[in-house]
Amino acid sequence: MRHLLSTGDLSHDEATLILDTAAELAQVGDRSVKKLPTLRGRTVVNLFYEDSTRTRTSFELAAKRLSADVVNFSAKGSSVSKGESLKDTALTLQAMGADGVVIRHSASGAAHRLANWVDGSVLNAGDGTHEHPTQALLDAFTMRSRLGRLEGLRVAVVGDILHSRVARSNVLLLTTLGAHVTLVAPPTLLPVSVHTWPCEVSYDLDAVLPKSDVVMMLRVQAERMHESFFPSTREYSRNYGLDGERLSRMPEDAIVMHPGPMVRGMEISAEVADSPRCTVTEQVANGVSLRMAVLYLLLSGS
Ligand code: NCD
Repeated sequence: MRHLLSTGDLSHDEATLILDTAAELAQVGDRSVKKLPTLRGRTVVNLFYEDSTRTRTSFELAAKRLSADVVNFSAKGSSVSKGESLKDTALTLQAMGADGVVIRHSASGAAHRLANWVDGSVLNAGDGTHEHPTQALLDAFTMRSRLGRLEGLRVAVVGDILHSRVARSNVLLLTTLGAHVTLVAPPTLLPVSVHTWPCEVSYDLDAVLPKSDVVMMLRVQAERMHESFFPSTREYSRNYGLDGERLSRMPEDAIVMHPGPMVRGMEISAEVADSPRCTVTEQVANGVSLRMAVLYLLLSGS
């Protein structure tokens, strides 16, 4: 494995190796000195063309914990705002000797393009509405550590599937790992090609909740919407929002997940967001170990 572009590229064994490696590396996070010398002398470039809080800092921390040199490059304040193309930026990074490039870009397929232009490993940190592989891997890691298994788990992914790269990456990965995914959304927020995805589809959240071990809530990605996809936010919340009442109808040990950023009161109520059954901060913590694992597996060999 040289790049991490899509969870669809991962075999069951490769995905399991990443999760197992993350579990080992998580122990480093519990020590007072959280650093390993593994990637000393290697350079990781964080190339972020889109806003990010969790993913960028998580990759930065992960690379630093492995002793890599990290360069953070954001589109604002770089030559990108002067009109430089992705290819020229890539060639510049290449000339500086980047061993790994972490890229987030608003164009679906940007990470794949980049992989053709640079010698180092490319890690897709979110490309448009296409994929977000490390998010799906950290989600699977969190499910496995909370519930003890992935095989046979019933996972509902709820909300704006149409604009979500998190949903596609999760469906592909979880299916490979033996879980069953049901997407829950209004018809307007499902991609037309959804029938080709290896999962089930429902428009009825209340019917799916009692049969779910994991309920993953997604943010309505208003920044990607140029028309209206539902009548009002109030109606959206009423049909597809998770509140305390709905939470009480989930199986007792079922968990609630969210990739962040959450919009409290929209897809998730404050009560559910703050409940111990919601794993949102655990997901963030696991994200660092998971990204350490991916960086380690991709960069330590070369
Ligand atoms: C997601 C993203 O950017 O795709 N966030 C994340 O990386 N944790 C989801 C979102 O923005 O709603």
